Amino acid sequence: MFIVGSGPGDPELLTLKALKLIREAEVILYDELIGDEIKELIKKESKALLVDVGKRAGKHRKKQDEINRLLVEYGKKYEKVVRLKGGDPFVFGRGGEEIEVLAENEIEFEVVPGITSAIAAPAYAGIPVTHRKFDPALVFITGKQERERLKWEALAKLNATIVILMGVSNLRENAERLIKHGKHPDTPVAVIESGTTERQRVITGKLSEIADIAERENVKAPAIIVVGKVVEIHHFVRDYLRNLRIP
Ligand SMILES: C[S@@+](CC[C@H](N)C(=O)[O-])C[C@H]1O[C@@H](n2cnc3c(N)ncnc32)[C@H](O)[C@@H]1O
Repeated sequence: MFIVGSGPGDPELLTLKALKLIREAEVILYDELIGDEIKELIKKESKALLVDVGKRAGKHRKKQDEINRLLVEYGKKYEKVVRLKGGDPFVFGRGGEEIEVLAENEIEFEVVPGITSAIAAPAYAGIPVTHRKFDPALVFITGKQERERLKWEALAKLNATIVILMGVSNLRENAERLIKHGKHPDTPVAVIESGTTERQRVITGKLSEIADIAERENVKAPAIIVVGKVVEIHHFVRDYLRNLRIP
């Protein structure tokens, strides 16, 4: 079994190893999040049995159990099974849970990291997630499930760039929390929708206004939200940036 990251969506960001495994696989179990372009690519490049295990928001718990069951079932039956996951399997991807299940069931596996959208989507928007001029730390958070456990007060006070995954539906609430706990309302924010794909869009604004802007622009998941002064680099370089796909 191979737990493989498919990268953020642009098929050219697949690793050589991922492509090789896709071509050699007998079965590919893939997530919704791998995106349309990668789905097209696997249909073209692979003779494998393709199993769509796409998860829909709201049904995560039940669905993950079902995915785990399928992993074990196919893992016991076939030699070359590719479990293809969006971005990197271990960055908010539940890859950790899946390898635990494989080990529990005595199925050998290999992990093939992918390029995470948390870094690649900002990169395509001309935003380096770290820059010597700005905050000396970088924090990845989820805008969803686990946020109740997050120490928002500590986060807001930390001089770190904050990258939020799964944060579109709770953008207003999370922006308000950060401000309430001490993050400056003028902190620059970028929202990168469908980063690295043909549909990539970049929306920017201050922390205090970003929820209104995103609502007005009808921003949809998947999107990466970057909170921090590194967003200024986007404005500085954008006229020269070829990755930026202007609608
Ligand atoms: C369940 S997490 C999986 C993250 C994935 N493992 C990774 O490393 O990119 C799903 C979230 O990833 C982010 N995401 C994934 N692909 C994206 C893309 N092409 N553009 C922007 N955000 C993306 C969004 O925040 C989305 O809600």
